[in-house]
Amino acid sequence: MPLSINGQAKLVGLIGYPVEHSLSPVMHNSAFAALNLSWCYVPLPVRPERLGEAVAGLRALSLVGANVTVPHKEAVMPHLDHVTPEAQTIGAVNTIVMREGKLIGYNTDWQGFLTALSESGFDPQGKQAVVVGAGGAARAVVYALAQAGAQVTVLNRTLARAQALVQDFSPLFPSLPLTPQILEERTAKAYLLVNTTPVGMWPEVDKSIWPENLAFPGHLTVFDLVYNPRQTKLLRQARAVGAKAVGGLGMLVHQGAVAFELWTGEKAPVETMYEAANKTLGR
Ligand code: ATR
Repeated sequence: MPLSINGQAKLVGLIGYPVEHSLSPVMHNSAFAALNLSWCYVPLPVRPERLGEAVAGLRALSLVGANVTVPHKEAVMPHLDHVTPEAQTIGAVNTIVMREGKLIGYNTDWQGFLTALSESGFDPQGKQAVVVGAGGAARAVVYALAQAGAQVTVLNRTLARAQALVQDFSPLFPSLPLTPQILEERTAKAYLLVNTTPVGMWPEVDKSIWPENLAFPGHLTVFDLVYNPRQTKLLRQARAVGAKAVGGLGMLVHQGAVAFELWTGEKAPVETMYEAANKTLGR
C-alpha cells in the first residue's frame, strides 16, 4: 500500500550514524500504510558532534517522535526533557516521543526482547541465564531478564565492563570473563544463552561466540540478538544438536511495535512489520 502523505502528515525520524542499513524505515512505513495513517518515518544520519543540534531540530520541525540508534542511545539522554525510569536504569534511550511539547525518552529494547523470548516459548521466571556481552544491548537484555525473574550470569571479553553492568542492576549476579571454559561451565547449569555481541554479524558470518571444539549443550535455548544473517553460526551450532535457536529479528520487530504504539496510540500491526523487515532482509 503506498504511503499517503498530506498536509496533516506526521513525521518520525531515526537518529543514528550510519542509518542506511536500518530495517526500521520499511518496518514503520509499512505499518503506517497498513493503518492508513498519514505518517512518515525517515532515516536521519546525525554525526556524533551534531547530536544536540539534531535534537533541537526535532523540536523545531515538530516531529512527533524518533528512534535513536548507534552511537547515540546514551548520549541523547541529557538532551531530552524526561527519561523513563527503565531507560534511566538501562542507561539508553531508543525511542523518543514528543508529548505536549516535551521530548520523552523511552527504552523499548528490553520489552522487545521479552516479547520475542516469550513468543519462542521460553519462560525465564526462576531460570538461570547466561548473557554474553556487556554493552548497551546487554544492558537491555539483563534488565529484561531480571524483571522477568531470571538469574543472570554476565560473561564479557572485558571483565570490568561486565562487573560494572551487574553493579548497576543486581550486584548478586555473577560477572565473569568470556573464556571457553567458563562458557562451558556456566551454560551447563543454565537454560538460556543470549548473545548480545556483534560476533557473527554480516559480513563476519563465520564467527561465533561458541568455540568450534566445544560440544554444544542440547538442553539450551539460544537467543542471538544478531538478525543479519537470520541464521547465524551460533544458531546453526545450536540447531545441529537439536537445541532451540532464536534469531534477533523478533526483538527488532517487537521493540519497533512498542515504539509504534507509543507514537500513534494504535495497536501495532506486528505481522505487517515482521513481513516488511523480513522481505527487506532478503536471502
Ligand atoms: P551494543 O550497544 O550493541 O551492545 P557495544 O556497547 O559496543 O554495542 O557492546 C558490544 C559488546 O560486544 C561488548 O560487550 C563487547 O565486548 P568488550 O566489552 O570486551 O568490548 C562485545 N564484543 C564485541 N566484539 C567482540 C568479539 N569479537 N568477541 C567478544 N566480544 C565482543
